[in-house]
Amino acid sequence: MDKFIIDGGNILEGEINISGAKNSVLPIMAASILNNGTTVLRNVPLVHDVITMKQILEYIGAKVEIDGNTLNINTENINKTEAPYELVKKMRSSYYVLGSLIGRFGKASVSLPGGCVIGARPVDLHIKGLKALGADIELEHGYIKSRFSKLKGTKIFLEGMHGPSVGATINVMMAASAANGESVISGAACEPEVIDVANFINSMGGDIKGAGTHTIKINGKTTFHDTEYSIIPDRIEAGTYIIAGVLAAKELLIKNTIPSHLESLLVKLNEIGLNPIVDHNNILVKRKENFKSTNIKVLPYPGFPTDMQAQFAVLMTQAEGKSIISETIFENRFMYVPELLRMGADIQTEDNNAFINGPTVLEGAEVMASDLRASAALILAALVAKGKTTISRIYHIDRGYERIEKKLSNVGASIKRVNPNQEE
Ligand code: EPZ
Repeated sequence: MDKFIIDGGNILEGEINISGAKNSVLPIMAASILNNGTTVLRNVPLVHDVITMKQILEYIGAKVEIDGNTLNINTENINKTEAPYELVKKMRSSYYVLGSLIGRFGKASVSLPGGCVIGARPVDLHIKGLKALGADIELEHGYIKSRFSKLKGTKIFLEGMHGPSVGATINVMMAASAANGESVISGAACEPEVIDVANFINSMGGDIKGAGTHTIKINGKTTFHDTEYSIIPDRIEAGTYIIAGVLAAKELLIKNTIPSHLESLLVKLNEIGLNPIVDHNNILVKRKENFKSTNIKVLPYPGFPTDMQAQFAVLMTQAEGKSIISETIFENRFMYVPELLRMGADIQTEDNNAFINGPTVLEGAEVMASDLRASAALILAALVAKGKTTISRIYHIDRGYERIEKKLSNVGASIKRVNPNQEE
C-alpha cells in the first residue's frame, strides 16, 4: 500500500488548479442512467471514486470512456439493474444508482452500503423518499430491492434528525425526475452539488426548480436527451489548498473555484486575520506569523462544511489561543485527532467537540489516514511539521483528491509517494 513521505517546513508558492467536484460527478454519472443515450461530462476529477462509479456503470452494461478529464457515457445497452456488494462496499455513493435505475427501469437491486468510519450513515431517508414516490422497496439479504415501481409525483418531507441529507435529496430528485407528474421535496439539502445534479438533469431535458433551496419542485419526464455538461469545481479540494496556503505559503493562488461556495470558510479566515483575496474565480492566500483562534460548528450548507473541519482543526493547532470545533453531522469525524496528537498537537475531544490549544509546534511522525478528509488534514499538518512525516493508508486520499502530491510538489512541497518495496 502506498504511503506519503512529507518533509515539512517548505514555503509554498505558485498556483493550484482546482479539479471538478467529486461529490457532484458521482451522482451525475449515476443520473446519466436516466437517459437512454450518451452523456459527455467535462471537468471530471480523475479520482478513485470516479473509477468505482465507472465500474458500476460498466457492470450494468453502460459504456464509459475516459478521455483526459472528460467522460463519455453511453447508457443504451444497460442490461442489468443491480449494484453488487463487491462494488458498493468500496464506496457509499454507489447508492446513487438506486434513484436513477428505479427512475428509468422501475427496478433496481442495490447492496446496502453499511456504516463507515465517519459514522453509521443510515439510508432511511433515501428509502422513505423513494417509497413516497411509489417505489416498491424491500430489504432482502442486505440489498435494497425494487421490482415493479411505477413512480408518481408527490410531496415529500426529507429532513432527518441530523438535518437535510445531500444523498437522499439527490437520489429522490433523480427518481422524481422520471416519475409521472409533479413532486415537491421539502427539507431538501441546499449544497452546491445538489444544484449541479439538478442543472445536469435539466440539461438533458429534466424540469427541476428550486435546487439550492429547501424546497425543490420536479416535473417528471418520460424521456431525456443526450447532453454535454461541465462539473463545478470541488469546493472542498479548494478549501483544503486554501488552508495549505494560509499555513505555509508565501503566496498561493487557488484557481478555478466558485468563491461563493466557500463563503463560510472565507468568512472564518477573515475573522482570524488571514484575509484571503478573492478575484473572480481565483483566491489568493498567504501565511501569517500570528493569527487568532476561532470556534466552528459544522452545519449543512451554507454552514461550515463537515468535510472541512479536520483541515480547519489543523489550522487551529497553529492559531493563538483556544478553539472549539463542533461536529454535528457525523458522530465519528475526529479520527484524525490521535494522529495529530502523535505530531504534538494539543487537542482534547469530548462528545462531538474538539478543544484545541494553539499554537503548537508540530513534529513529523508516522501517522495513519482513517478517511478522506482526515488524510487531507494529516497532509496539511505534515506540511508545517518539523521533519519527516510518513502517512500510511493514503488510498483514502486517492478516492477524492486528484493528483494531490503533484499539485503540492508543483508549488514547492516536499511530498513523495512510495510503496513499501521502494521505501528508503
Ligand atoms: C454527502 O454524504 C457527502 N458525500 C459527504 O462527503 C458529506 O460529508 C455529507 O454529504 C455532508 O455534507 C457525497 O456527496 C458523496 P448526508 P451523504 O446524507 O449524502 C444523516 C466526503 O468526505 N442521514 O447529507 O451521505 C447522516 O447520517 C464525504 O467527501 C440519515 O439520518 O451525507 C448524516 O448525519 C464524506 N438518513 C446527515 O444525515 C439518511 O437516509 C447528513 O448526511 C441519510 C443521511
